[in-house]
Amino acid sequence: MKTLSYPAFDYAALLRDIHEEAQALCGQGRVATYIPALAKADPQHFGIAIETLEGGSYSIGNADVPFSIQSMSKVLVLSMVLARIGEALWSRVGREPSGSAFNSLVQLETENGIPRNPLINAGALVTTDALLSHCPDALTELLAFVRQVSGNPGIAFSEEIARSERESGYRNMALANFIRSFGNIHNEVDAVLDAYFHQCSLMLDCRDVARAFLFLANAGINPGDSVRLLEPVRARRVNALMISCGFYDQSGEFAFSVGLPGKSGVGGGIVALVPGQLSICVWSPGLNAFGNSLVGLKVLELFTRRTGMSIF
Ligand code: DON
Repeated sequence: MKTLSYPAFDYAALLRDIHEEAQALCGQGRVATYIPALAKADPQHFGIAIETLEGGSYSIGNADVPFSIQSMSKVLVLSMVLARIGEALWSRVGREPSGSAFNSLVQLETENGIPRNPLINAGALVTTDALLSHCPDALTELLAFVRQVSGNPGIAFSEEIARSERESGYRNMALANFIRSFGNIHNEVDAVLDAYFHQCSLMLDCRDVARAFLFLANAGINPGDSVRLLEPVRARRVNALMISCGFYDQSGEFAFSVGLPGKSGVGGGIVALVPGQLSICVWSPGLNAFGNSLVGLKVLELFTRRTGMSIF
């Protein structure tokens, strides 16, 4: 892994400045309503946390309020699957940005049920299916993994959000059934959807998320317990997928304006990584038209502009 070097920053002061500047955008985005349980989110909530590989921990605002990480979970499940089956995943999921919405069905028909990448819903369903095939109790293992990487033994699923997603999950049901018709989902569709809805419902706060993703800024080693979770080359692959596909049809814009590997979720969270340095998580539930946190994007843009911390 290439380690980028930077001068020492006063992260506490930086967070205060950025929080104050981005606050004006709070309330301008639209909270996700297609999952009814998410519609209750308060658009004024706004937190930021930074965790550094040197052990620094900085936060501001509502950084200790848990929210559902939604699509950010796709990166964690992908990491678990790569650690278990490695390259075998790539015969079932691609590595190209889709240029389409996160829940789109359109490319699957002509591409024989092989999703473009593991970070859109279609690809995440296949990745979760692969986890189910390799773990007898996938949700228990997922929970143990997220507790390990976040260092928080209290992390849990939200049964309310998982149920709400199931009750309104016609898109994901269509995707899973369609992919299964091509033979690219191997387990019962219901079991795959149940695991997927649960992974999306995982409740973490900004500090938990920043800590949980830090192993990906550290060539695959979890700094909390020094355990290697991914081979360096695989950690690199996950970072590459985040930068090319982590923001769906806004991935190009995120690379352009921020230039860090990252991942968003419709719960309003965004995590971004500075390889060899740190992880930063922003949470604010108001979304833009692409399903990405409006304030989150602004914060990360300000962060890279002020610090020069970008891989480009
Ligand atoms: O499957 C869904 O639609 C949601 N559980 C997750 C989508 C999501 O987070 C997209 N991210 N920005």
